[in-house]
Amino acid sequence: AYDPIHRAALLIRDARSMVLISGAGLSVDAGVKDFRSPSGWWRSIDPRTVATVEALESDYDLFHEFYAARITQLKTVRPHRGHGILAEWEKRGMLACIGTQNVDGLHQAAGSRNVHELHGTIRAFRCHACGAPHAEETFLQKRKCQCGGRLRPNVVLFGEMLPQEAWDAAIAAIRAADAVLVIGTSLQVAPVNQLPFLTRAGRIFINAEETGHEDQFDVFIKGRALDSLAAIQERLELL
Ligand code: APR
Repeated sequence: AYDPIHRAALLIRDARSMVLISGAGLSVDAGVKDFRSPSGWWRSIDPRTVATVEALESDYDLFHEFYAARITQLKTVRPHRGHGILAEWEKRGMLACIGTQNVDGLHQAAGSRNVHELHGTIRAFRCHACGAPHAEETFLQKRKCQCGGRLRPNVVLFGEMLPQEAWDAAIAAIRAADAVLVIGTSLQVAPVNQLPFLTRAGRIFINAEETGHEDQFDVFIKGRALDSLAAIQERLELL
């Protein structure tokens, strides 16, 4: 019988250089809003008004309010057991690295070490004008840089280049991968949505909803990340 949990467990058990590509759906089970689900951020806010350089420059108050709200929400958020299972798989040599679109730092908080933050991080801040680093509190207090410039989180805004080192590392990892695990992403944002298809390796997709890309994967598990990872882990222990 076709049991996607079992098929995924077999692929993951035999992998020696598996790469995970994760998106906002993975953090939903920790209480973090995603973007394109019915309850996602972009259902109530036009991303062009908050997640672009143009927004930062033309309406800093709204830009600041959006990121300050997300930073404040994250203060009460902890990684869930699925993040922990992924960190455990890395420790056991089953997961080589993570290329994440998430900026929340939850993979690292759960113990994952080889994490490439392809869309940057909301946990660090800099001056948009001179690039000087600044503390979270300075950003939250809406202070300016000594140079007079405005502060922003180190997230990749729409239209900005991805961090070159993280991108190059993710490309190299995908090219060497013998399995690719994709969790909690609508696969709508380039160039990360191309990564899973740059390798001939076995591809597993775990997502709460169909995205239209399911037929490009060897295994598709329609479900929540937390439940699916727990079910795969349970099956691995039986193999
Ligand atoms: N478990 C698994 N999948 C889930 C869960 C869950 N608990 N909750 C939601 N999902 C799925 C949704 O069905 C959706 O397909 O996760 C996916 C999240 O997709 P998006 O909200 O588009 O998030 P993501 O793909 O990470 O967005 C990519 O877009 O806005 C930019 O820079 C931002 O990094 C982000 C990028």
